[in-house]
Amino acid sequence: MTSAARPLIAPSILAANFARLGEEVQAVANAGADWIHLDVMDGHFVPNISFGPQVVKALRPHTQLPFDVHLMIEPADPYLEAFAKAGADNILIHIEAGPHAHRSLQHIRALGAKPGIVLCPATPPEAISEILDLVDVILVMSVNPGFGGQKFLHSQLPKISRLRDMITQTGRDIRLAVDGGIDATTAPLATKAGADVLIAGSAIYAKPDYKAAIAALRPENTP
Ligand code: DX5
Ligand code: ZN
Repeated sequence: MTSAARPLIAPSILAANFARLGEEVQAVANAGADWIHLDVMDGHFVPNISFGPQVVKALRPHTQLPFDVHLMIEPADPYLEAFAKAGADNILIHIEAGPHAHRSLQHIRALGAKPGIVLCPATPPEAISEILDLVDVILVMSVNPGFGGQKFLHSQLPKISRLRDMITQTGRDIRLAVDGGIDATTAPLATKAGADVLIAGSAIYAKPDYKAAIAALRPENTP
């Protein structure tokens, strides 16, 4: 079975109950999650504010699952070390958030974390063609970043396919994630296009049964 046929599921805690985040992380871990996705927003790069490295650190003891930290902050460089020390496994920066992604990705690697790069819906795949050797994760935003619960942008599917081809050409083991509007209907579209990590907030945390919600995103259970 290819990785595209068995995608990793990464619940986004942005849609969790913030008053009991530790329990919410444990609950999705027990329900079959593969990664925990943590959305960091600064009210500047995106029009919303979420949480910072202290919350990542506080959640770290609650699960051994990898922490996939999605930085929607500009600049990111002054905070990379804090997120690495807080226990981030993957640290993802936006290609749109600064002029020196190459340097930032090297810095993330030097800090002992896995570097990832994120593309907003308006950004073409070629924007990251010169840094593919530096990343372990590529994340395609299928909504404009800043909020959960938005509608999946089908226009991003050809971009996912193009990036899958680009990854294949590198011969490197790079995860291809999709984030925004993923539910039981859109998940199979994303995996068919080549995504092998599905990030979902409301499709998991807004459901009463997290195990059933996660299972519903896996291809064998989708229409
Ligand atoms: C949006 C975030 C997403 C968000 C996804 O800026 O990056 O991770 O939590 O939420 P849903 O799955 O509800 O679209
Ligand atoms: Zn995210």
